Amino acid sequence: MKEAIIAEFNQRFSGEPLIVRSPGRINLIGEHTDYNDGFVLPASVDKYIYVATSKRNDREIHLYSIGFQEECKASLASPGIPQQHWAKYILGVAAQLQKNNFPLAGFNLVFDGDIPMGAGMSSSAALECATVFALNELFGLSISKIEMVKMAQMAEHEYAGVKCGIMDQFASMFGKENKAIQLDCRSLHYEYVPLEMKGIQIVLLNTNVKHQLASSEYNVRRQQCEDAVNLISKHQPQVQSLRDANMKMLDEWVKPVDASMYRRCKYVVEEIERLQNACRDLSNGDLKAFGKKMFETHDGLSKLYNVSCSEADFLVDAVRSNPNVIGARMMGGGFGGCSINLVKEEAIQQLVEEIREPYYNFSGLHLDVYIANIRNGTELC
Ligand code: GLA
Repeated sequence: MKEAIIAEFNQRFSGEPLIVRSPGRINLIGEHTDYNDGFVLPASVDKYIYVATSKRNDREIHLYSIGFQEECKASLASPGIPQQHWAKYILGVAAQLQKNNFPLAGFNLVFDGDIPMGAGMSSSAALECATVFALNELFGLSISKIEMVKMAQMAEHEYAGVKCGIMDQFASMFGKENKAIQLDCRSLHYEYVPLEMKGIQIVLLNTNVKHQLASSEYNVRRQQCEDAVNLISKHQPQVQSLRDANMKMLDEWVKPVDASMYRRCKYVVEEIERLQNACRDLSNGDLKAFGKKMFETHDGLSKLYNVSCSEADFLVDAVRSNPNVIGARMMGGGFGGCSINLVKEEAIQQLVEEIREPYYNFSGLHLDVYIANIRNGTELC
């Protein structure tokens, strides 16, 4: 892929490009907890966005997407919101850098990647992280990784209109080979957790449902959580986010006001606790207990948080009583994307064969399957 991008770059622009790649991510457990100041357990995987970039002598930004075969031109003075969806992530990052007073000049950028889009593997965060990392190198800006992550997240808020938490950009930037990242989204303290899953692989089953609802419903969930915190904090001013809430508070202050909001918050409060117990399972080497919690997370996401879809439910239900599957759940923001499954290595092929046709009969969609190998985060290459 790197060679193809360099070749495309050389056809369009002059000068030696700087190449950066940034990975997609999985998340083992802890979903919709990041923007509630909870914990997450993501890892970066061997699917990437590659960008090639070079300086220009003017104050223009010239972009080209190999995958979309589209170009986009903008000026640094007023990047604006482009028509092309993909360009929003790049211009969004350039805008953030300028907003934070980092001196940019014009640049060329070509990108491509193999992170499936809309699969809940955060291809957009990878593009943002690759862009911010590349521009940091290109212009010698000396920005810390965590600052880059925050600017990438804000690019998503302000240019793509999704009020995402910090997990995706953090995982893409900070990923480490064979480690998951246990991240406290409040303090941003993190630990690398070794993933010793001998004989077990992380298998992603892509529903291939394109998230139509994903961004609007995502923002609605986030708002419901904030509204609930406002209800509680009237009585308990120390409660700043759902991280500080417990079931008693929800029963007392949220349930009587809004039943749907109550269900959403119940899921979040339970999930924040579940992740901490799941991390204990991992360090005790108890994968069975960990896997059971993944199914519980799925049920919460599906029945309480209402961000699953019938296709993802189908895939999780199809493996629920399979003794070769340790755990499974929908992954990411929801309304499509992938399910994440921990599967005994020797049983993967058979599992996929058994599930493919029934899935097609159920949904009319083809199933794509990826084995996720955990690799390093954003880097020069
Ligand atoms: C999306 C968001 C993340 C996170 C997940 C759900 O991927 O970008 O910040 O909230 O959904 O866990």
